[in-house]
Amino acid sequence: MEGASSPGMATRSSSTAPPLLLLLTLSILLTSPVHANAGVPAATKPLADHLALAASFREAPAFRNGRGCAPQSDPAAAIHIAMTVDTTYLRGSVAGVLSVLQHASCPENIVFHFLASSPRRLRPIVAATFPYLSFRMYRFDAALVRGKISSSVRRALDQPLNYARIYLADLLPRDVVRIIYFDSDLIVVDDVAKLWAIDLGPHVLGAPEYCHANFTAYFTDRFWLDPAFAGVFEGRGRRPPCYFNTGVMVIDLERWRQGGYTGRLEGWMRVQKRRARIYELGSLPPFLLVFAGAVRPVEHRWNQHGLGGDNLEGLCRDLHPGAVSLLHWSGKGKPWLRLDARRPCPLDSLWAPYDLFRRHGSDDLFANS
Ligand SMILES: *[C@@H]1O[C@H](CO)[C@@H](O)[C@H](O)[C@H]1NC(C)=O
Repeated sequence: MEGASSPGMATRSSSTAPPLLLLLTLSILLTSPVHANAGVPAATKPLADHLALAASFREAPAFRNGRGCAPQSDPAAAIHIAMTVDTTYLRGSVAGVLSVLQHASCPENIVFHFLASSPRRLRPIVAATFPYLSFRMYRFDAALVRGKISSSVRRALDQPLNYARIYLADLLPRDVVRIIYFDSDLIVVDDVAKLWAIDLGPHVLGAPEYCHANFTAYFTDRFWLDPAFAGVFEGRGRRPPCYFNTGVMVIDLERWRQGGYTGRLEGWMRVQKRRARIYELGSLPPFLLVFAGAVRPVEHRWNQHGLGGDNLEGLCRDLHPGAVSLLHWSGKGKPWLRLDARRPCPLDSLWAPYDLFRRHGSDDLFANS
């Protein structure tokens, strides 16, 4: 399961990418008047797209720290949150960010880390929608995982950006030692500082566990019948271990880096791709293989998951019993699509207040998502 060399290399190259891209952008902008006589310059079309996209979201208000918050300048007070952004799920990511800010007691201390395949295209949109937000954007190179992805039961699960969470420890700067990872189809309805503050104990990763879920079903017979595979969970307590969802995770990035966890996850992806089909879903099973049974359990209120229904039909689901700090539309159905189609599930109305998308704007933007 070794072999963490490729992500390390990719990190170094991607960290030099932004200045290079910036230079390229500048040179295109600077040289475009020269081409203006020869019809529409190539550079104005993407520029127009940027503006149309940026204008498709309303501007979020400023959220200010309450009394008793440490000053924003204190790095020890920062809460780091990572999410992916792409055009398909942008509307969901924007709603997620807004929900976090709205319920935070110290919103100005939150730093967002966005992973994107095309940061140049998405950065201006995020900046225009959240003018007061502390955020950094990182380029996630889809080529890093494309050769490692095997097709799953649902196309959306095979998107390279789904795998970006595996590379957080490599992409984010070393001084970020803890991160909360959030999927783009969730809203937070509680102070995220509470989740941030959880004690990970000796663990690398914290997440709500679901011990009643049928863990066996996440892997194939081929996996369970081969002791070399199935034995991976030995020494991790309960057998089979409890399922957890990778849409909400608190990760100790320092321990992750020291333990070479990116390489371990990639190792299982290689097994799946080259040796034997051991699971059917996308980026989730490798996480289960590496961490299940060894995660710090987090209260269930922090991932009321499955609101999108199952992976095949996207039927309406109810909340699990208990308190709610986070609502997660995992599964096939997404609230913005169901609301637009005027076939919402009852709980989709809880997502709607965080929707910053301008309905009358370029509606076709998300039509084929
Ligand atoms: C769990 O899933 C496996 C594999 O899909 C199935 O054979 C088994 O019957 C399921 N167990 C329960 C308790 O549903």
